Amino acid sequence: MNSHTSPAIELRGASKTFRTPSGGLHTAVRDLDLTVGRGEFVAVVGPTGCGKSTTLTLVSGLEEPTEGDVLVAGEPVRGIGDKVGFVFQQDAVFPWRTVLSNVMAGPRFRGAPKAEARE
Ligand SMILES: Nc1ncnc2c1ncn2[C@@H]1O[C@H](COP(=O)(O)OP(=O)(O)OP(=O)(O)O)[C@@H](O)[C@H]1O
Ligand SMILES: [Mg+2]
Repeated sequence: MNSHTSPAIELRGASKTFRTPSGGLHTAVRDLDLTVGRGEFVAVVGPTGCGKSTTLTLVSGLEEPTEGDVLVAGEPVRGIGDKVGFVFQQDAVFPWRTVLSNVMAGPRFRGAPKAEARE
């Protein structure tokens, strides 16, 4: 399948296990299969701690699955790409900066000149 026909998001047998501060292991997501089609609007609902945010970190490339595959537009997710937006659960902005300056921060950190980032 190419990127025009493949689902927007696909998780196949995805698991994520974290090491806890006490040295143990905690599996936040276990063997998850999920397919989100192009143009589909999906809400994931569940009790606190069930792994919703962890699932999103796998899709956005912020975390790697411990097991399984995560694909966006048919391509395996490898690190943070530029095709996925992620609105964090907690504020993730610079409160001392203006809205425009916050929007410019991403391109600036990726090395864009000020004028280009502003554009
Ligand atoms: N980086 C991490 N290290 C260790 N444990 C983690 C880490 N991130 C998440 N967890 C644990 O994994 C589980 C799932 O967390 P997650 O944040 O995905 O839940 P959630 O469904 O988004 O919950 P909420 O509804 O409260 O936002 C929780 O038990 C959490 O404590
Ligand atoms: Mg969450």
